[in-house]
Amino acid sequence: MSFVLTQRTSQFNGIVPRSPEEAPHHVALPAPDMVEQRFSVPFDFPVYFTDGILRDPDNMVLRQAISRKEPGRRHRFAVVLDSQVAQADPTLVCGFQAYACRHADALDLVAAPLLVKGGELIKNDHHAVLGLQTMLHKLRMDRHSCLVIVGGGSVLDMAGYAAATTHRGIRVIRVPTTVLAQNDSGVGVKTAINAFGAKNFLGTFTPPFAVINDHGFIATLPERDRIAGMAEAVKVAAIRDGGFFEWLEKNVERLRSFEPQAMRWMIRRCAELHLRHIGQGGDPFEFGSARPLDFGHWAAHKLENLSGYTLTHGEAVAIGLALDTRYAVMTGLLPEVQGERLHHLLERLGFKLWHEAFELQDAQGRRQVMAGLAEFQEHLGGDLTVTMLDAIGCGREIHEVRHPMMNACIDWLRARNHARCA
Ligand SMILES: NC(=O)c1ccc[n+]([C@@H]2O[C@H](COP(=O)([O-])OP(=O)(O)OC[C@H]3O[C@@H](n4cnc5c(N)ncnc54)[C@H](O)[C@@H]3O)[C@@H](O)[C@H]2O)c1
Ligand SMILES: [Zn+2]
Repeated sequence: MSFVLTQRTSQFNGIVPRSPEEAPHHVALPAPDMVEQRFSVPFDFPVYFTDGILRDPDNMVLRQAISRKEPGRRHRFAVVLDSQVAQADPTLVCGFQAYACRHADALDLVAAPLLVKGGELIKNDHHAVLGLQTMLHKLRMDRHSCLVIVGGGSVLDMAGYAAATTHRGIRVIRVPTTVLAQNDSGVGVKTAINAFGAKNFLGTFTPPFAVINDHGFIATLPERDRIAGMAEAVKVAAIRDGGFFEWLEKNVERLRSFEPQAMRWMIRRCAELHLRHIGQGGDPFEFGSARPLDFGHWAAHKLENLSGYTLTHGEAVAIGLALDTRYAVMTGLLPEVQGERLHHLLERLGFKLWHEAFELQDAQGRRQVMAGLAEFQEHLGGDLTVTMLDAIGCGREIHEVRHPMMNACIDWLRARNHARCA
């Protein structure tokens, strides 16, 4: 059985960029000669939930996704495949070709699937973006053609960025293959690659044409990545949904043993919460300074980088959540017992809440990770806005982080980790 969620959002959604007149110390300015331009662009995309899009050629989900706007015509499409996903399931390449033959009345697969290396390092490789764009050019893909991207969050980001900047955006069907990509990155509206040593420095806000969350892919995902993706579920539950957080606590053993039903429900609920935030949160393209879904991410992004990307995104997010939760406790925002619930849940899911990269210092003897705060602010623009917790299920924004206090929280994480390892 397949399910579908539909995401609707609008580019402006009532957010009006700050004008000079709103500046705190304004002087009366002469009325400028101007014509005001204002419009909004509606977006909608379905998120399908299914199992084995290619296993059964009569599974209609991929066909529906590609042809959803013009069911009456034949659609050109190409496929980019995460090489490790293809390695884990050698039937995939032929599967796409067989599927296209079976649905030849509606689908025209214009080339054999292109394999690209999976994992974070593909986001550092700008030749990969150019290689994909060269292929799109050679295949004469236009803005009504579809690029189906099958892979983890890294391949989705790299190939999504390449597609978003080709003809200013060709249609993309995302087929996320990791827990993290199915419950978080794959259902979002962003693409990015890393540049100049900064994570996600080059990127776009580009909603996908459709998303297909196929549970079958989770079966081949290595254990480390299955655990890593659950950090995003803990994150969104902690800031948005106390009931979901309790469910995670109650089902931690089932999740830890990757019981399919529990994993499916966790992924679905997490995806729904992300979709709701993007569609109804009022700022889908992050024009403001706040990014509540990036709870724990200022430290996570910096730690990923400082670890030379040996820490995965999910593992780094778990550490970032643990750190900011401790900060919330130490500053009196969050009761200690609630902080302990979050730390305990992450540990029971299998996360290590410490990394040696915390010890790296700059020339002045300061922890390098602390530079992540300024980089986070620079990436957002505007005021520093960091999400903390008021209670489990309730995020709260703060605009100032006291460095000595944050350093004490890092020391606390180190001591906790040493005690657990002793
Ligand atoms: N665009 C966004 O909004 C957004 C949001 C959150 C995270 N991200 C990005 O997502 C990336 C992390 O993505 P991820 O956690 O999915 O990891 P990943 O894409 O790096 O994949 C991890 C590893 O698993 C392999 N793999 C993927 N699916 C597999 C499968 N089904 N079977 C076997 N192997 C498989 C990959 O080849 C890779 O080696 C980071 O770069 C992060 O910044 C983006
Ligand atoms: Zn994340």
